[in-house]
Amino acid sequence: MGDLPILLLVTSCLFLLPPPQHLTSACALNSTRRHHYHHWVGPSGRRVVTVDGNGSGDFLSVQAAVDSIPEGNTQKVLVHIHAGVYIEKVVIPATKSYITFQGAGMEKTVIEWHDRASDRGPDGQQLRTYHTASVIVFANYFTARNISFKNTAPAPLPGMEGWQAAAFRISGDKAYFLGCGFYGAQDTLCDDAGRHYFKDCYIEGSIDFIFGNGRSMYKNCQLHSVATRFGSIAAQDRKSPCEKTGFAFVNCTVTGTGPLYVGRAMGQYSRIVYSYTYFDNVVAPGGWDDWDHSAGKNRTAFFGVYKCWGPGAAAVRGVSWARELDYQTARPFMAKSFVNGRHWLGPSDA
Ligand SMILES: *[C@@H]1O[C@H](CO)[C@@H](O)[C@H](O)[C@H]1NC(C)=O
Ligand SMILES: *[C@@H]1O[C@H](CO)[C@@H](O)[C@H](O)[C@H]1NC(C)=O
Ligand SMILES: *[C@@H]1O[C@H](CO)[C@@H](O)[C@H](O)[C@H]1NC(C)=O
Ligand SMILES: *[C@@H]1O[C@H](CO)[C@@H](O)[C@H](O)[C@H]1NC(C)=O
Ligand SMILES: *[C@@H]1O[C@H](CO)[C@@H](O)[C@H](O)[C@H]1NC(C)=O
Repeated sequence: MGDLPILLLVTSCLFLLPPPQHLTSACALNSTRRHHYHHWVGPSGRRVVTVDGNGSGDFLSVQAAVDSIPEGNTQKVLVHIHAGVYIEKVVIPATKSYITFQGAGMEKTVIEWHDRASDRGPDGQQLRTYHTASVIVFANYFTARNISFKNTAPAPLPGMEGWQAAAFRISGDKAYFLGCGFYGAQDTLCDDAGRHYFKDCYIEGSIDFIFGNGRSMYKNCQLHSVATRFGSIAAQDRKSPCEKTGFAFVNCTVTGTGPLYVGRAMGQYSRIVYSYTYFDNVVAPGGWDDWDHSAGKNRTAFFGVYKCWGPGAAAVRGVSWARELDYQTARPFMAKSFVNGRHWLGPSDA
């Protein structure tokens, strides 16, 4: 999101402050009041459509395939996207649930576009970061497999403004990504809102390249930095202690260029946990950043590590307010229950 405050490096101090626990009951009360009696209605029926850029499918573009799906869709729709580079912007509206994008392989099927935050939209206004994504999904129950998403706008130099350029934005609930690639520089993956599960994915970027207020698990993913002077992996935007959002990285590998913050407190109650993750020698001193050094986010953010390893792992414990968790504390961040996965992920999907 914002530019890195590269002049102020966080210094550690001796106090270890736990997150406030006294709000737990207020949160429970609130969620009880907001409880709705949803009846689960799953998709009925199944449809397959193919996209082929050379004309041997049902559609030439991915958006044309999405447009063919009716509003209020109740079918499972498998969109088979043949190998090729599809240069287009794709939007799936909230009314079109149950869509799966199936590519021919992470290196073979690519959807790419090149919007930047400072570019002008049709209304003459600047697009702003959240609208730059090459693929934007507002719908629930979206799945993507074996496909890559790119934003090909040139990478900014540190301090340049308006160059945020997302490759993908997920704003729908219960989204599943398997074997997907996400390529960009600043703000590559907008993990905006909802419960998401990313498995065996490759995510590349420079500054805050996974950001937003999603409640997401990243399992067996490679997080690859292409930062030129300073970079950061995750900026999580949890705003209140009642929100169940956060980013849980499990068994991931962190590679590329640094120095790199592994997490930044975008929201006041930002939550980021890395467990069983390998860190190459790319981590910045301190490891974590409190975003603006003024809102006391170092007292309210929840940043943790559990059994991480590699030459950069020591630096990830570089500030007193990012903790080495014990098993009990780390456990909720290592199981698919973090995203209520038992209710919507298949047993072999997690
Ligand atoms: C309860 O929920 C409302 C809206 O859903 C929110 O504005 C408010 O901050 C919540 N209260 C607490 C204590 O989180
Ligand atoms: C069209 O076919 C060629 C050769 O088979 C392939 O290289 C290219 O990626 C295809 N283009 C699209 C957009 O599918
Ligand atoms: C996805 O790609 C991997 C290799 O890249 C392959 O092993 C796997 O079968 C593919 N899965 C599907 C569902 O196409
Ligand atoms: C951890 O990730 C590696 C790939 O990076 C994979 O080979 C291994 O099976 C994963 N372990 C578990 C327990 O999922
Ligand atoms: C937390 O940040 C404040 C500035 O917002 C700073 O004065 C303080 O030393 C920091 N505390 C720790 C534990 O790093």
